[in-house]
Amino acid sequence: MRIIVTGGAGFIGSALVRYLVSQVGADVLCIDKLTYAGNLASLKAIENKPNYRFLKADICDRAAMTDAIETFRPNHIMHLAAESHVDRSINAAGDFIETNIQGTFVLLEAARHYYATLSGEEKEAFRFLHVSTDEVYGSLGEDGLFLETTPYDPSSPYSASKAASDHLAIAWQRTYGLPVVVSNCSNNYGPYHFPEKLIPLNILNALEGKPLPVYGDGSNIRDWLYVDDHARALHLIASKGRIGEKYNVGGRNERRNIDVVQKICATLDSAFPDRPPHERLITFVADRPGHDHRYAIDATKLETELGWKAEETFESGIVRTVEWYLANEWWWEPLRGGVYSGERLGVLKKA
Ligand SMILES: NC(=O)c1ccc[n+]([C@@H]2O[C@H](COP(=O)([O-])OP(=O)(O)OC[C@H]3O[C@@H](n4cnc5c(N)ncnc54)[C@H](O)[C@@H]3O)[C@@H](O)[C@H]2O)c1
Repeated sequence: MRIIVTGGAGFIGSALVRYLVSQVGADVLCIDKLTYAGNLASLKAIENKPNYRFLKADICDRAAMTDAIETFRPNHIMHLAAESHVDRSINAAGDFIETNIQGTFVLLEAARHYYATLSGEEKEAFRFLHVSTDEVYGSLGEDGLFLETTPYDPSSPYSASKAASDHLAIAWQRTYGLPVVVSNCSNNYGPYHFPEKLIPLNILNALEGKPLPVYGDGSNIRDWLYVDDHARALHLIASKGRIGEKYNVGGRNERRNIDVVQKICATLDSAFPDRPPHERLITFVADRPGHDHRYAIDATKLETELGWKAEETFESGIVRTVEWYLANEWWWEPLRGGVYSGERLGVLKKA
C-alpha cells in the first residue's frame, strides 16, 4: 500500500503518518509546505523508517503535485493539508482561500489526471480521501446531532473554505468519476497539538502560571475526539469507505469549553499538589466573532458500516494528553518561544 498524506507535518497529519508507517506498514510520502503549523519534530519517531519519505511542497503548486503523484504512484491520497485555525481565518482569510480551496482544486486535478492513466487493480484500489471538519455544518442548538445529510451552513472563513473544498471533492467524483470519499470530524485533541488551540494552549499557560483564556461564558460545546482514534478512522474510511460517500467521525464526547479547561486544571492539580489550584488562572475573555454554539457528531454510519469505534474517552484522553505535554517540553518549548507564544488571535479591530 502506497499512500500520500498531505499536511502530514501537522497535528492530525503527523498522527496519521506515524500510524500508517509504524502500525499499518504502508509506504508513505508526506507532503507538507511546513507553514507555522507544520513541524517535522512531530515525525521524529518515524523519520528514519525505510517506508517513510518527506517532500516539502505547496499543494497549490500544480507541477510539484503532478510530479509527486506520478513519481510515487499512490494507491491512496489522504488530503489533510489546510489552514486550520478559525481565529487566524478571522484575522486573515486569504491563506485559507488559497490553500483550502485552490490547493484542494489543484490536488483533485493532479489526482484526476493520474487516475486516468491507471488500469486494472491499481485503478480499482485508488482512493482520494478528502479530510474535513464538522464545522461545515454550522452550529447546533441544545439538541440534535450532525448527520452526513445535515445541510452545510458554515460560520467562519475557515469553515466556509472547508465547505467549499468538500463540494469540490464530491463534484470531482460525480463529474469525473474520481474515487473520492469525504470525512467530517469533530474537534481533535492529543499529543503534538500546536499550542494555539484551546487544549494545548491552556495546558501550557497553566503550567507557566499564565491566564487561561475562555471565550465568552465558556458554554460553547465541542465534541472531542482523541487524535489517534481519528487516524484509525481515516485509514478505515480510505480503505473501506464507499466512493462518493461522506462519513462523520466523532467520539460522543460533548463538553462545554469551561468544563474542558476545568478538567485540565484538575489534572494538573493532581500532578502538582504543592501548587495553588490552577482554576484560579481561568479568565473569561471577549467571545470569538461568529462563535458556533454547539457541535455534536452522529458517527453511526462509520460505526455500523465500517466497524469503527473511538477507543479513548475524554476522561482518559485528556489525562494522556496532559501527561504527554508534561513529558515533552522538547517539542513545545521551541514553539512557545518562537512562532507562537500564546497571544490572543481572532479579535476584530474596531473600524
Ligand atoms: N484539528 C481538528 O480538530 C480538525 C477536526 C476535523 C478536521 N480537521 C481537518 O484536518 C486537517 C488537518 O488538521 P490539523 O489540525 O492537523 O491542522 P494543522 O494546522 O495542525 O496542520 C496542517 C498542515 O498542513 C500544512 N499546510 C498548510 N498549507 C499547506 C499548503 N499550501 N501546502 C502543503 N501543506 C500545507 C501545514 O504546514 C501543516 O503541517 C485539516 O484539513 C482540517 O481542516 C481538523
